Amino acid sequence: MESPFRPKEHPWLGLAGQNELAKFKSSRSCPMSLSIANNLIIPLTQHDLPAIMQIERRAYDFPWTEKVFEDCLGGDYLCRGLYEKGELRAYAVLSIAVGECHILNVCVAPEFQGRGVASGFLLSLLDIARERQAEIVFLEVRASNIAALALYSKMGFSEIGRRNGYYRNGESREDALVLSLPLLS
Ligand SMILES: CC(C)(COP(=O)(O)OP(=O)(O)OC[C@H]1O[C@@H](n2cnc3c(N)ncnc32)[C@H](O)[C@@H]1OP(=O)(O)O)[C@@H](O)C(=O)NCCC(=O)NCCS
Repeated sequence: MESPFRPKEHPWLGLAGQNELAKFKSSRSCPMSLSIANNLIIPLTQHDLPAIMQIERRAYDFPWTEKVFEDCLGGDYLCRGLYEKGELRAYAVLSIAVGECHILNVCVAPEFQGRGVASGFLLSLLDIARERQAEIVFLEVRASNIAALALYSKMGFSEIGRRNGYYRNGESREDALVLSLPLLS
């Protein structure tokens, strides 16, 4: 079967990022499997909030608050969780409207990162976006987030802009890269 991914180019990583990525790949103890076939992707509800927060707080230096998730879960967002053996492994929050899909959060539990979970999960979510008539996907990502940049680069996203000082980063600020991906039907 033809790979759904484009060739692995990592245009935004810079030299330091590419070195970090290479180091990560050689240190990875298990091979990329992209086997999310046995996992369940289901709509998230308020009941999932404790499990979401448990992952969110460990995965991000600047996690979303519970209130933000509550609003998303109660609002008009696509909130999906990837469950394996009854446990939440990954989740995502997307907004889809007027032909556009915005990825607002995608997160994999730290102990399951680097195994192809996000790659498979995102492909399924983009299928849903396509079914809901989205023609293009947008997202913002920290310029220093090597794992996320590697993921989006692999999926064929392109950089379309940069927001200077968009994110809080301790006492200072950090740029966001704005990425997009056309969804071909
Ligand atoms: C970004 C994130 C979702 C990736 O999830 P994942 O399941 O580990 O991703 P995958 O295993 O599918 O890997 C995707 C690519 O990223 C690379 N990658 C994954 N983790 C990495 C790491 N820690 N360092 C460097 N590269 C990494 C993989 O090598 C792979 O690239 P490759 O196919 O060229 O080898 C995950 O690291 C995460 O949840 N981070 C915290 C939350 C976050 O930053 N979300 C993104 C917000 S924009």
